[in-house]
Amino acid sequence: MRITCVGGGPAGLYFGILIKRRFPGWEVEIFERNRPLDTFGWGVVFSDATLENLRAADEPTHRAITEAFAHWDDIEIHIANRTIVSGGHGFSGISRRHLLEILQHRAATLGVELRFESEIDDVETLRARCHLLIGADGINSRVRAAYAAEFHPALERGRCRFVWLGTTLPLDAFTFIFERTEHGWFTVHAYRFDQQLSTFIVECREETWLAHGLNSAGTLDTLEFCERLFGPYLRGHRLMANSAHLGGRDWLNFTRVGNERWWFDNVVLVGDAAHTAHFSVGSGTKLAMEDAIALADALADRTHDALERYEALRKVEVLRLQNAARNSTEWFENVARYATLPPEQFAYSLLTRSQRIGHENLRLRDGAYVEGVERWFGGRIVPPMFVPFALRELRLANRIVVSPMDMYSAVDGTPQDFHLVHLGTRALGGAGLIFTEMTCVTRDGRISPGCTGMYLPEHAIAWQRIVDFVHAYSPAKICLQLGHSGPKGSTKLMWEGMDEPLDEGNWPIVGPSAIPYSPVNQVPSELTLAAMDEIRDAFVRAARMGIEAGFDMLELHCAHGYLLSSFITPLRNHRDDEYGGSLANRLRYPLEVFSAMRAVWPAQRPMSVRISATDWVDGGISGDDSVEIARAFKAAGADLIDVSTGQTSPDAQPVYGRMFQTPYADKIRNEVGIATMAVGNITDADQVNAILAGGRADLVALGRPHLADPFWTLHAAAQLGYDPIAWPVQYAAGKDQLERLIARAKAASP
Ligand SMILES: Cc1cc2nc3c(=O)[nH]c(=O)nc-3n(C[C@H](O)[C@H](O)[C@H](O)COP(=O)(O)OP(=O)(O)OC[C@H]3O[C@@H](n4cnc5c(N)ncnc54)[C@H](O)[C@@H]3O)c2cc1C
Ligand SMILES: Cc1cc2nc3c(=O)[nH]c(=O)nc-3n(C[C@H](O)[C@H](O)[C@H](O)COP(=O)(O)O)c2cc1C
Repeated sequence: MRITCVGGGPAGLYFGILIKRRFPGWEVEIFERNRPLDTFGWGVVFSDATLENLRAADEPTHRAITEAFAHWDDIEIHIANRTIVSGGHGFSGISRRHLLEILQHRAATLGVELRFESEIDDVETLRARCHLLIGADGINSRVRAAYAAEFHPALERGRCRFVWLGTTLPLDAFTFIFERTEHGWFTVHAYRFDQQLSTFIVECREETWLAHGLNSAGTLDTLEFCERLFGPYLRGHRLMANSAHLGGRDWLNFTRVGNERWWFDNVVLVGDAAHTAHFSVGSGTKLAMEDAIALADALADRTHDALERYEALRKVEVLRLQNAARNSTEWFENVARYATLPPEQFAYSLLTRSQRIGHENLRLRDGAYVEGVERWFGGRIVPPMFVPFALRELRLANRIVVSPMDMYSAVDGTPQDFHLVHLGTRALGGAGLIFTEMTCVTRDGRISPGCTGMYLPEHAIAWQRIVDFVHAYSPAKICLQLGHSGPKGSTKLMWEGMDEPLDEGNWPIVGPSAIPYSPVNQVPSELTLAAMDEIRDAFVRAARMGIEAGFDMLELHCAHGYLLSSFITPLRNHRDDEYGGSLANRLRYPLEVFSAMRAVWPAQRPMSVRISATDWVDGGISGDDSVEIARAFKAAGADLIDVSTGQTSPDAQPVYGRMFQTPYADKIRNEVGIATMAVGNITDADQVNAILAGGRADLVALGRPHLADPFWTLHAAAQLGYDPIAWPVQYAAGKDQLERLIARAKAASP
């Protein structure tokens, strides 16, 4: 067996070591364009968990690496003349040069043929000469480019520039420094990697870099600029460059690399050639070496599908990390957004930026740090979700919300006993705020025959019974969500066929334009101005009935492809009057409806708006549009934006995942300066606390978790050992027993 590897970085060398260890008889050669220690960069970091993987794969390499380590636990954050320290992070640094030295030495000892100063141009000839060709040639991989038609690479350029410098400044912690200049923010990511040296990466937005003229700066100018900017932190130490191999290009853009396939025929990609993860999650070398482990393992089984299995195994893990890295990249691209947060929250937001580390995980790392954050957030040590929240004169006992959920169980718009029990139980379950389902302002504005309404006098009476129960038996408040189905009206009950037209008895539907939601839906008739006024008046009438029924809060549903949402999205609104065209025009009608409702809704009670912050469709609403939408509703008097996404087009390509919509709530909250509610695949208290403490949202709504467990909040309080929460007095014995059982289970677990 003859294996040829292009690239002698961590991926190629480590793969060579692992395969030669297993199959000493196989020929393994590595072509590397550089001389042995001619490397770029300064240090790299590994987490304690990665080191365990390396120990299991090859003990001698692991030993040599760990002997050379600088280890630290703390992360130190410098912002606005404050230094915030969080401990327990467990990372180790090593110089890249020394890491390569260790790998080169071990590879040579095992008999890997290392061919330095051998630049590969003709990949195809090389491939023909070997049984297996490994593309380990880094981020600008020639192997990947040669077979792009097979691998289908996707390269995405970041919005920041960075320069990878070194310094003799001894650092005791992984250090982040944030400095503002007249043209924008600069960030330093710095850590020690041996006794003498530290890595010092400086990063800023592309426009900041251009405004400072750094595009025409030589290496010395760059060093001088950075030394001046970070002088107080450097304490007289100098900065050093190491970019000769880059032909003087000191400042780079980070490129996110992905490939649809990682192998074909006898070629396979590993490390940065296959994928990259932003340096702020410090995982490029880890991923490269773990690829090498997985590929060597797969080949060792000597089955025909080894490459396929390698790709299947690694792709999932890499994607998970790339998603975390994307969150982290976006955080650093938007430092200006977060710099408006108080330093305590800024630091917490930084530490939890990738959404992989939650509140309890941070507590495990450094309990005192988390207690400090809780004290800052709530005025005492208390999980953030149990900190009260106020909107106008509405006082919520905690930050958990039962998300609006259509139950499709009303009769001609009238909520039934089912709704009383359903909403009543959830009010007893401890959430601070309960939402009704989308309640429709006209009969024809219902989504399905089972939707609740607020258009007949009996509706207000039935709702009042529910509101009275919530107020009489729980501290929860209740919000009425009002909407009109528009192009998604006259459809079946959810469990009979979501968004599908009725088999019989369809009613006529309306929209901003005569565009059906999907090919199977009815074509809505384009609303005339007079009909729009009528619907606006129906919203106002429903808001008045909401006051009669005693609701504490009112939400206008402008999301999910229903009537007002379809005015906002360009996918459904093709009008050529003043209600179509620009975003400002498309917002005009929803704003008119909102303002008319706000005018009658009591001034002391808040109003919110649910929006789809992205359509998940090219050419549809984007995250940037959602900022403008939120700004417009804020100006019209909205107190809270309830940030959902999508459901505006069957062509949407949503990127699902844990808390997948929260980044939009974060963006809107911190760019517009309005309270937001996050929702969508938020399932546990740890996520909720991290979202709130990090300033990503002010309230957190849970939908499906409340269908599974109406007592979600009370159960979370018991798990967190938060005793003061009010259980219904009738259920006190259940509280005592649950708390005892949890305490016993915790005592028994190691
Ligand atoms: C600023 C910055 C900071 C980073 N910090 C960290 C960190 O803290 N921790 C971490 O784990 N990772 C970090 N990384 C990422 C890390 O450097 C890479 O992910 C890692 O080196 C990938 O290893 P690799 O073997 O796949 O590629 P590389 O290390 O890039 O190795 C590829 C090799 O192939 C050679 N080569 C390329 N083309 C050819 C050719 N045609 N012929 C012959 N040889 C060729 C190159 O000379 C190179 O030696 C950082 C990256 C950057 C940019
Ligand atoms: C059965 C069901 C009905 C829903 N009905 C509504 C609704 O009437 N109004 C609304 O704005 N969202 C509605 N949604 C969306 C939820 O409010 C929530 O945004 C979504 O379920 C994502 O949150 P989750 O992951 O916590 O479930 C509904 C969701 C479900 C599961």
